[in-house]
Amino acid sequence: MADWVVEARDLQKVYGGVEPLEVLHDVNLQVAPGEFTAVVGQSGSGKSTLLNLIGALDRPTAGTIAVDGARLDQLTDDELAALRNTRIGFIFQYHHLLDDFTCLENALMPLYIRGTPTPADEARVRGLLARVGLGGRLDHRPNALSGGEQQRTAVVRALAVQPKLVLADEPTGNLDTHSGNDVFALMREMNRASGVAFILVTHDERLAAAAERELRIEDGHLVEVRRAG
Ligand SMILES: Nc1ncnc2c1ncn2[C@@H]1O[C@H](COP(=O)(O)OP(=O)(O)OP(=O)(O)O)[C@@H](O)[C@H]1O
Ligand SMILES: [Mg+2]
Repeated sequence: MADWVVEARDLQKVYGGVEPLEVLHDVNLQVAPGEFTAVVGQSGSGKSTLLNLIGALDRPTAGTIAVDGARLDQLTDDELAALRNTRIGFIFQYHHLLDDFTCLENALMPLYIRGTPTPADEARVRGLLARVGLGGRLDHRPNALSGGEQQRTAVVRALAVQPKLVLADEPTGNLDTHSGNDVFALMREMNRASGVAFILVTHDERLAAAAERELRIEDGHLVEVRRAG
């Protein structure tokens, strides 16, 4: 087993263009299995950029990233796709649920993408949906769910494949305070129960303060604000 779920070394990200923009500079990060980390920073500071690099949705200009022991720069495109589908769960500000599928089908989607879910997989996902209060909503389409219910479905979907790491980019940014608190509490509970590591990007200082560990991006640098234990 890998010692770190995420190990990033000397990361640099420069966006090209007429005036190249260096968004991340000499970023080093190690995330332990099961750790719950919040990342804060001003708008435009590079939070989404960092998550996209860790999630292999984009490549760094320099430096290396390993996820669950696998160096991203050494994987083929097929291997990267497999890593994204099996070891990483993603939650975004907008849930990206598919309109034509039910709550249960949406939560199972990463398993369908991988093949056919086993009865055990389906039972596990149904159990997670019940735990997040959606047991009575399994056959509802997203447009018949509240914003908070949609986002809770997205949290379960991120956990469907039993990943090592969940990357969440402003998952509560689109919700009112009450629903946002619910979704956050749910992520914390899932983190404690399953041992899946979370990296949560948030503008909400209260939520960041309730994470185990807090990082801030400032002038392209990643600063450790607080780490429990
Ligand atoms: N594909 C791109 N090409 C060029 N510049 C980009 C690209 N993506 C992001 N940027 C720039 O990089 C900087 C960091 O963007 P990023 O999306 O990571 O910020 P953020 O911290 O997530 O902000 P927010 O809190 O508003 O979501 C911004 O100045 C943005 O304009
Ligand atoms: Mg962002």
